[in-house]
Amino acid sequence: MAAKLGHLARAAAAILCLLIFHVALSDSLAKASVSGGTGTCISWERDALLSFKAGLLDPAGRLSSWQGEDCCQWEGVQCSSRTGQVVRLDLRNTYKDGNNKYNSLNLSRDEMSSSLADLQQLRYLDLSGNNFSRTSIPMFVGSLENLRYLNLSWSGFGGRIPYQLGNLSNLQYLDVRGNNYYYLDSNYSNLYVVDLAWLKHLPLLSNLDMSGVDLSSVRDWFNMVNMLSSLKVLRLEDCGLTSTVSDTSKANLTHLEVLDLSANLFNTSLEHSWFWDLTSLKELHLSQGEWHGHIPQELGNMTSLEVIDFSKTDLLGLIPSNLQKLCNLKVLNFEDVNINASIGEFMDRFPRCSWTTLQVLSLANTNLTGNLPIWIGNMTSLSDLLARENMITGGVPLGIGALGNLTDLDLGYNKLNGVVTKDHFSGLLSLESLDFEGNSLKIDIEPNWVAPFRLKRINLQSCSVGPRFPGWLRWQTDMDSVLLDYTNLDDVIPDWFWVTFSRAQYLYARGNMLRGSLPANLQHMSALAIALGSNNLTGQVPWLPINISFLDLSSNSFSGLLPVELKAPWIMELDLANNKITGTIPSSMCQLTRLVRLDLSGNSLTGDVMQCWKESDNNSSVSSLISADQFGSSMYNLALNNNDLSGEFPKFLQRASQLMFLDLSYNRLFGSLPKWLPEKMPHLEILKFNRTYSRGDKFAHQAHQSEFIK
Ligand SMILES: *[C@@H]1O[C@H](CO)[C@@H](O)[C@H](O)[C@H]1NC(C)=O
Ligand SMILES: *[C@@H]1O[C@H](CO)[C@@H](O)[C@H](O)[C@H]1NC(C)=O
Ligand SMILES: *[C@@H]1O[C@H](CO)[C@@H](O)[C@H](O)[C@H]1NC(C)=O
Ligand SMILES: *[C@@H]1O[C@H](CO)[C@@H](O)[C@H](O)[C@H]1NC(C)=O
Ligand SMILES: *[C@@H]1O[C@H](CO)[C@@H](O)[C@H](O)[C@H]1NC(C)=O
Ligand SMILES: *[C@@H]1O[C@H](CO)[C@@H](O)[C@H](O)[C@H]1NC(C)=O
Ligand SMILES: *[C@@H]1O[C@H](CO)[C@@H](O)[C@H](O)[C@H]1NC(C)=O
Ligand SMILES: *[C@@H]1O[C@H](CO)[C@@H](O)[C@H](O)[C@H]1NC(C)=O
Ligand SMILES: *[C@@H]1O[C@H](CO)[C@@H](O)[C@H](O)[C@H]1NC(C)=O
Ligand SMILES: *[C@@H]1O[C@H](CO)[C@@H](O)[C@H](O)[C@H]1NC(C)=O
Ligand SMILES: *[C@@H]1O[C@H](CO)[C@@H](O)[C@H](O)[C@H]1NC(C)=O
Ligand SMILES: *[C@@H]1O[C@H](CO)[C@@H](O)[C@H](O)[C@H]1NC(C)=O
Repeated sequence: MAAKLGHLARAAAAILCLLIFHVALSDSLAKASVSGGTGTCISWERDALLSFKAGLLDPAGRLSSWQGEDCCQWEGVQCSSRTGQVVRLDLRNTYKDGNNKYNSLNLSRDEMSSSLADLQQLRYLDLSGNNFSRTSIPMFVGSLENLRYLNLSWSGFGGRIPYQLGNLSNLQYLDVRGNNYYYLDSNYSNLYVVDLAWLKHLPLLSNLDMSGVDLSSVRDWFNMVNMLSSLKVLRLEDCGLTSTVSDTSKANLTHLEVLDLSANLFNTSLEHSWFWDLTSLKELHLSQGEWHGHIPQELGNMTSLEVIDFSKTDLLGLIPSNLQKLCNLKVLNFEDVNINASIGEFMDRFPRCSWTTLQVLSLANTNLTGNLPIWIGNMTSLSDLLARENMITGGVPLGIGALGNLTDLDLGYNKLNGVVTKDHFSGLLSLESLDFEGNSLKIDIEPNWVAPFRLKRINLQSCSVGPRFPGWLRWQTDMDSVLLDYTNLDDVIPDWFWVTFSRAQYLYARGNMLRGSLPANLQHMSALAIALGSNNLTGQVPWLPINISFLDLSSNSFSGLLPVELKAPWIMELDLANNKITGTIPSSMCQLTRLVRLDLSGNSLTGDVMQCWKESDNNSSVSSLISADQFGSSMYNLALNNNDLSGEFPKFLQRASQLMFLDLSYNRLFGSLPKWLPEKMPHLEILKFNRTYSRGDKFAHQAHQSEFIK
């Protein structure tokens, strides 16, 4: 059908296109050819699209517009205004609502319909983000000779990549990344290639992403890739590559701007690597490789570099001192590299011309010592300063307060000391995340100071923040996470706390001297986790935030009854130990079927120990125990000890096959350990159980042991 164009016309068109598209960007490719109106659909192409659709499941109805005569109007389809032929098919499944699964197109047959082969003028094909159920990339794709853009990333293809792709001599973009992402099933073959010789037939290829494709059996991958002299972007992350490139290899890739060789198995030194010839490189990603040794002087010739990612490698020591010409640096990532020097000395090697270009500096866990340089405030474009888990000493330089673009400041777990005042924050207009955890810093900020930023996260754990609750946080209403464990707070929790942080997900202030009671109802809160353990809080346990999954109110002075209903259906960990709670355990507790840890120990609870068991064979309507058929089935830790509970060994524990720790001691339980215990609780490691002998002694023969440790 494609033969409808004569050979000459095709050749002419190809040359024309070549001229046009050699300079065009991918997204403008097909658009350029449709400008001036839509064509009218050609009937065989319409049939081809319909038959492609027929082979797909489309639960989200993404192809619902695919009906009627004019296929050029269909969602994702574009036609040439000149010939009316389909030139672009974009069925990319983009992330919506943070989850792309629901919009996925899935294969309904064993393989993709080959009808797409009829779209001979197709220049742009994007099927990324869908689910092709582990099938192979179909060979017919190799017949779409006009393709400039082919995106099959994140779409669950498997097996061998067909060498027929070598027929796509116009191809500029090839992206098959992320097809190893979905499936870990050992029987499933990830995309792989044995022979890359077909690449050399793609002379126009400028953007190649094979990340996640298994290239471990390709012997001469470097020489094959080295033929692609138009390449600008080469991403071969996690391809099982080893260091087979010979030191003498001369790189041909003079236009290369982005090289990503992360997560391969190059157990070698960086010295004399082939990519040091590529002085046009803007991004060099070598993280998670097994690179070792020092960072060589050759880096100093890479004057176009903007992004250097050497993180999580075995590289050692400082960067070389000859980087004066690297004036475009934006991102430096050395996380988990053993720099083992003073941070001042390290940063002194940053070229001065890059002080105002650097945006991201990631130095977490790099064995840095010494003080932060006072001139850090001159790095005016800095947005991320991440230097967690080092041994940085001294104070936080005041200059930091001048960094108007700083969004993320993480100096957690260093040896910083001294006082932080509002002057340190005065110009931080963009700050969103502040982490000083685990330093000996004193945070001394007036309660009515109004910060110039709107934080999303703050972590001051183990710093000294108190005694007063930090009033200046009152206006930080965008908080997602407020972490104030062990911060010397000796105050009541202010009323505004529950309003200002009503949208936060994590609220921690353990190990302080917080006083006062909690509001009776926290149902309006968005919190997923609240930890206020080890304070001096009083009053009753409130109705909980509706989505909460973790609550620690242990070691306080909460008293009174538990709410008849906690109203926390998602809760997984509930720790109310060591309070003064009285009354019975409400039967609604049996509905908290997601609980993995429940600790009510050290209170004054009375009445029946939780049974949470429906006597189905024994006239259940009378026994009326809550229908809680699942309660306990995911539990691994249950502590009800040191109360005044009575009753027999809880029957629901027959379901607790995951249980590892069980403490029922110091109660008034009677009876004995059930016979089913070893069988139904195979993971149990620690059991503490006292029974009283007042009820007669018919089980005494098996229950003398009150503590049992596996
Ligand atoms: C391919 O599609 C994915 C989204 O599914 C996108 O992130 C990626 O940038 C695309 N690749 C190219 C080369 O345009
Ligand atoms: C389609 O695939 C998605 C994942 O890509 C999966 O979540 C969904 O269950 C599949 N739908 C059908 C109907 O197979
Ligand atoms: C892809 O779809 C198939 C059925 O069409 C489904 O069994 C599979 O789980 C889906 N893959 C993923 C990752 O959801
Ligand atoms: C690739 O091109 C060759 C020659 O041009 C042709 O014989 C072959 O059929 C093509 N393969 C595919 C899959 O289109
Ligand atoms: C993997 O394949 C083996 C043999 O072909 C089969 O017995 C096994 O069930 C398969 N496993 C999975 C998870 O499909
Ligand atoms: C460089 O690329 C050209 C094609 O663009 C190729 O002919 C040549 O062999 C390559 N040189 C090396 C050393 O691979
Ligand atoms: C940097 O490049 C110059 C000229 O291109 C060259 O003479 C020099 O050896 C290179 N330096 C390093 C460290 O590779
Ligand atoms: C930091 O130094 C210690 C002691 O020399 C070493 O064990 C550790 O691996 C180093 N850290 C990193 C990230 O290399
Ligand atoms: C940092 O910037 C300030 C103000 O612009 C300037 O006075 C100072 O000299 C700079 N520091 C360094 C070390 O260049
Ligand atoms: C933030 O960075 C931009 C460039 O990314 C720059 O133009 C601007 O001046 C910086 N703002 C501050 C306050 O330094
Ligand atoms: C806790 O508060 C009570 C009074 O409410 C007080 O008697 C007690 O000393 C406080 N405990 C601590 C550790 O502050
Ligand atoms: C209850 O058991 C604990 C050990 O779990 C034991 O130390 C204690 O003496 C027992 N108390 C009674 C009253 O049996």
